[in-house]
Amino acid sequence: MEDASDRIISLPVEDRYHTALQSYKKIYNESIEEPVSFWEREANVIDWFRKWEKVLDDSNPPFYRWFVSGKLNASYNALDRHIQTGKRNKVAFIWVAENGDEKIVSYDGLYYRVNKFAKALLDLGIKKGDRIIIYLPMILEAPIAMLAASRIGAAFSFVFAGFGPSAIAERINDSKAKLVITADGSYRAGKVIKLKEIVDSAIAETSSVTTVIVAKRIGLEVQMQEGRDLWWDDLIPRGSTYVRPEEMDANDPLFILYTSGTTGKPKGVVHSTGGYSVWVANTMKWAFDPKDDDRWWCAADIGWITGHSYIVFAPLFLGLTSIIYEGAITYPAPDRLWEIVEKYRVNLFYTSPTAIRTLIRYGKKYPEDHDLKSLRVLGTVGEPINPAVWKWYFEVIGGSRTPIIDTYWQTETGGFVLSPSIALGLAPLKPGSATFPMPGIVPKILDENGNEVKDGKKGFLVLNKPWPGMFLTLNNEPDRFKEVYFNRFNAYYSGDYAVKDNDGYFWLLGRADEILKVSGHRLGTIEIEDAIISSNDVAEVAVFGRPDEVKGEAIIAFVVLKQGFDISGDIIYSLRQHVRETLGPIYVPDEIHLVNALPKTRSGKIMRRVVKAVFLNEVPGDISTLENSASVEEIRQAIELVKKEALR
Ligand code: WT7
Repeated sequence: MEDASDRIISLPVEDRYHTALQSYKKIYNESIEEPVSFWEREANVIDWFRKWEKVLDDSNPPFYRWFVSGKLNASYNALDRHIQTGKRNKVAFIWVAENGDEKIVSYDGLYYRVNKFAKALLDLGIKKGDRIIIYLPMILEAPIAMLAASRIGAAFSFVFAGFGPSAIAERINDSKAKLVITADGSYRAGKVIKLKEIVDSAIAETSSVTTVIVAKRIGLEVQMQEGRDLWWDDLIPRGSTYVRPEEMDANDPLFILYTSGTTGKPKGVVHSTGGYSVWVANTMKWAFDPKDDDRWWCAADIGWITGHSYIVFAPLFLGLTSIIYEGAITYPAPDRLWEIVEKYRVNLFYTSPTAIRTLIRYGKKYPEDHDLKSLRVLGTVGEPINPAVWKWYFEVIGGSRTPIIDTYWQTETGGFVLSPSIALGLAPLKPGSATFPMPGIVPKILDENGNEVKDGKKGFLVLNKPWPGMFLTLNNEPDRFKEVYFNRFNAYYSGDYAVKDNDGYFWLLGRADEILKVSGHRLGTIEIEDAIISSNDVAEVAVFGRPDEVKGEAIIAFVVLKQGFDISGDIIYSLRQHVRETLGPIYVPDEIHLVNALPKTRSGKIMRRVVKAVFLNEVPGDISTLENSASVEEIRQAIELVKKEALR
């Protein structure tokens, strides 16, 4: 495999960091050498109704079970215990909307609302073990719904509010949910998004849903279906309400979150109640070292794992104050984020490389217009961060004072797995490296035969040991769970390329599979191909990513139309529209090219790899298995044509 050492910035380990590194290593080594006593201690970051009998049951790999027979409740840990220990009046969430509207809710206020909504769910007949779907924008009802579901023991599945009807329908069908919680609509960059309408078309493709709860966010007129649709506010019981938190088993599912895989069908990643809670609370503490009166802002969407773990669960478990921002980062102006940092004196700020790259384009003026001195720590997640972008973030936003916590993790890992850790001892940072493993994580870099590669060589990143935040399984698909993640290397395979340098630092080098990272969003090429094919005009399609300076990757589609279809400009528009209306806007290809044929193997498999190589002007590799080599020439010509048109 190629040598990746040119990416590595070598940095002499200065003396002043030596103690920090030693302190980190001491704790890390303890976690690996004495895992039982380590987790016996660290699991107390959470309150348990009943202590576990065994820290780890690894008798049936890869179905590892942590904190066996332990009993707890996530909503209790997020709320009740803080109310009882002097944090009643502390601010839990500061909600800020795009237009500047603001709501501040204390731990007591959140507790009150969660109890009321939990009672409403019980009154609707939702009970322990049920599955519910949440399709909400970034409003307080989102964490309230998540916590109320956890309180009564119903596993929720949050569907990102940017997804379209068929993406929602697929998730409803896989989870067989009876209840969907949504809102009338929301705003995005000043535009109205009609969420309830999208839910209605999704439900038309499903059969399990009997109830839809609609929160009023923007006062949009919506059609309420008699007997099925109910307004959130109408369900809230009067008077004081207390719902006893269910005693959940450590290995009962807390939530299911669907994520893209290498087939058209998204994977339902199931997270546990116990291990997940222990993992997110500890990783946040270790990596960011939040102080009690800090203000934390994770500028992700609650609908993705980043928001689940680090907007909702970890900050609440730790009793912190956290910001929820509903809106776009450049609306109404490119200083939106910095205005919020200044106004709310944010101390810890966590975002994605794509967001930073987007803002870099507008220049330093916007951050420089604001007082950002409250910032103490900056974080990033979602894709590799280019060293130049890292430096801009560090210097312009952090005033060269704040460490950059580059957290590498995945939907499946529950929380950070590689990250610098302030609380354990901050080793010197190298721009672009996620540095070292979190306690309990044993990363290895392997070649295609499963052998460890030498330091400095690129390979496949695997995690050799189970960790508490590891997902339990894939919903309804235990075989796929084994096959996708464990069969290839006999360890948890991340799907990422990485390299370890001579100082032991890890560098992530992008996905090694058919998954795209577009603005930090994880999208499957085959999902997009399936959506394009479903438009009825298309015979064949190949989707792949091309490097993009801002988004990380852009989506490219090569399409062969069905015989007799008239090639015209409109078809491209309507294909884009079709993808927008089925999967959602984030999936819309940046470029669609029409060709007469795509390169295929003799068995009829479209060779996406060849199309991509030709498109990127790279050597297409072995094309001896190609059945129709003429198609390669055709793609070349199509690309030439595009280039000429771009020049005109
Ligand atoms: C994929 C997981 C985990 C929350 C957001 C994404 C990429 C994530 C980093 C990072 C380089 C990163 C990987 C990973 N990724 N963080 N710090 N450096 N790459 O969750 O949607 O499950 O995507 O995001 O490719 O496999 P996700």
